[in-house]
Amino acid sequence: MKRIAIFASGAGSNAQKIIEKAGLPQSSAQESGKNLPIYKVSLIVCNKPGAGVIHLAAKENIPVLMIEKDPFFRGEAYVGELKEAGIDYIILAGFLWKIPLALIAAYPNKIINIHPALLPKYGGKGMYGMHVHKAVVENQEAESGITIHYVDELYDHGQIIFQATCPVYKEDTTDTLAQRIHALEHLHFPAVIADLMQ
Ligand code: GRF
Repeated sequence: MKRIAIFASGAGSNAQKIIEKAGLPQSSAQESGKNLPIYKVSLIVCNKPGAGVIHLAAKENIPVLMIEKDPFFRGEAYVGELKEAGIDYIILAGFLWKIPLALIAAYPNKIINIHPALLPKYGGKGMYGMHVHKAVVENQEAESGITIHYVDELYDHGQIIFQATCPVYKEDTTDTLAQRIHALEHLHFPAVIADLMQ
């Protein structure tokens, strides 16, 4: 069973879905004779005190590692803590800091991000959250979607694993599009992760 750390700094709705997909904790799965879960969310990593995802972690009994800029970007990038927690994969679910080389080197092809648009369009520095949806609506795109990809040293650039699309309607606002994209993320992200962990 693979051990996952979710890096998030927002509400954590994707984190919630990923935790739900993991299902029963290993011990109860064994007791009830069910198949073992293929992954376990062992750690939530967060850079924003007070973020919704911290409350989620408390509710789900998952330890939280709060991180700070200096050690993350100019130190060891918390590699020691992640290895100590036995982390196999890192999932970025609404984490806005760039991933430093030290972390990429420690987890090659094991760091996965979700981006709320169809990369390579609407990616790169400054293209996050509502900025993405605003740009898509303003440009009157006919469709948008989600991209799940490996993380490399550039923003929103690594190899694409999965994409799904949804329509953008003339009457869409940034908010209505954001809701549609969120639903698409919740539908696909946990399943794609589970597939990769097999
Ligand atoms: C998602 O839309 C994700 O694509 C983006 O940040 C948002 C996180 O939302 N990178 P949540 O915290 O999972 O609700």
